[in-house]
Amino acid sequence: MDRVKTGIEGLDKALNGGIPYRNVVLVSGGAGTGKSTLCLQYLVNGAKLYGEKGLYISTEQSREELLKAAEGFGWDLEELERQKLLRIAYFDVVGTDHFLEKIYKQYTDFNPRRVVLDSLTTFTDSLLVSSARDDTAFSMVQVAETVSPIPKTEKIVAKTLLYQLMKKLRLFDATIILTSELLEESKGLSADEISEFICDGVIEMHYLGISGADSRTLRVRKMRYCNHNKSYIPYEMTSQKGIIVHEEESMDVLMK
Ligand SMILES: Nc1ncnc2c1ncn2[C@@H]1O[C@H](COP(=O)(O)OP(=O)(O)OP(=O)(O)O)[C@@H](O)[C@H]1O
Ligand SMILES: [Mg+2]
Repeated sequence: MDRVKTGIEGLDKALNGGIPYRNVVLVSGGAGTGKSTLCLQYLVNGAKLYGEKGLYISTEQSREELLKAAEGFGWDLEELERQKLLRIAYFDVVGTDHFLEKIYKQYTDFNPRRVVLDSLTTFTDSLLVSSARDDTAFSMVQVAETVSPIPKTEKIVAKTLLYQLMKKLRLFDATIILTSELLEESKGLSADEISEFICDGVIEMHYLGISGADSRTLRVRKMRYCNHNKSYIPYEMTSQKGIIVHEEESMDVLMK
């Protein structure tokens, strides 16, 4: 099994070498836990350390916001873009039609080995809103006829949208990270409570903000085709290196 290194040393160790090639991995966590930073670092390391092209599809932060965030960690995204090792594609999900086709076009145009979609929550939420508003978006996912007369509950629509997205992503010759918002008290592993089952892997990120300075921990909750560290692992966010994962300090404690 080929591994795709994130270049975040402790995380690669926790994954026994990296993310299995072509896995679709969900990075799930609350506000400010570092999901977008992890995604950026995955692509920046891919470009700088391994010469691999990365595509960042953003539905939340604009291109300028991402450049600014990256600058705080000393990453010059524009330089990587000039070297054709990185592409940032921002989609304003409100009012964007044919979203899946547009993602696919970005992929075929650029042909990256690493892809990030940040965030899945914005993506599904916005499609749910438009599918509730009119039937066009709903028929776009080709379920209107097939599920009738089953009511178009949000869950069914969300599930269908996610399956459609996943089907598209699985065509990519790339290893993919998706992000999802997650409230600390949530019982599921993603905002929609479906993606964790569809994705090949789930990495949860927590920020408790108790007992001292930085109580950040992450956990590889699931990773298909891979034995991995299953404990809570402390991590830091630093201006010098971005996310640093202290795999050697893994904790076998129950936090939920
Ligand atoms: N230059 C920096 N050095 C150290 N830590 C930083 C730096 N810039 C941001 N941070 C930390 O990272 C957090 C933001 O990280 P990030 O945007 O990756 O989180 P996120 O999980 O994507 O958040 P959101 O839910 O808002 O999308 C900030 O709240 C701050 O704690
Ligand atoms: Mg973010």
